[in-house]
Amino acid sequence: MDAYDYLFKFILIGDSAVGKSCILTSLIENKFKKGSSHTIGVEFGSKIINVSGKRVKLQIWDTAGQERYRSVTRSYYRGAAGALIVYDITNRDTYHHLINWLADARTLARADISIIAVGNKSDLKDKRAVTFLEASRCAQENEILFLETSALTGEGVEEVFVKVAKMIL
Ligand code: GTP
Ligand code: MG
Repeated sequence: MDAYDYLFKFILIGDSAVGKSCILTSLIENKFKKGSSHTIGVEFGSKIINVSGKRVKLQIWDTAGQERYRSVTRSYYRGAAGALIVYDITNRDTYHHLINWLADARTLARADISIIAVGNKSDLKDKRAVTFLEASRCAQENEILFLETSALTGEGVEEVFVKVAKMIL
């Protein structure tokens, strides 16, 4: 059955290679997409998730992190109810850029958009360069949600989408 109670549009943003497309594949197919290929422009995925007893259909736009696609991706913020700003916990640059992505979301999306910072690749414990604590403080200061995920193991992936959807409901 494809029946649902709510329909939300989400966007996945953040630097290139942080794992946005892998998070989407993990959510939708429950598996890790091996091999790396940069997203060109945008890709789309959809899934119905259960949130507080309601069936919520998510339409998810997975944008390209590479600078050259920035003008394309900027046109996808419109109408988004939720934004996932993804960084890579093993790469501090991607974490520092979170603030730029946040500025984009705040200017280009609707005022009531729900935003979550997502620290991906939590499975790479030995290579961690951003602590959970500093990222959660940064999220708090900027009044956005925060979670860590691993698209590789699937840990935290569905929780991220549920958490944002809960904010909107
Ligand atoms: P763009 O499309 O260029 O913006 O990149 P992206 O953010 O979509 O990154 P993508 O999902 O293509 O993943 C980039 C690389 O990180 C790939 O080599 C993935 O295999 C790897 N990767 C993604 N998620 C994880 C994760 O949770 N753990 C580990 N260990 N590797 C990951
Ligand atoms: Mg991608």
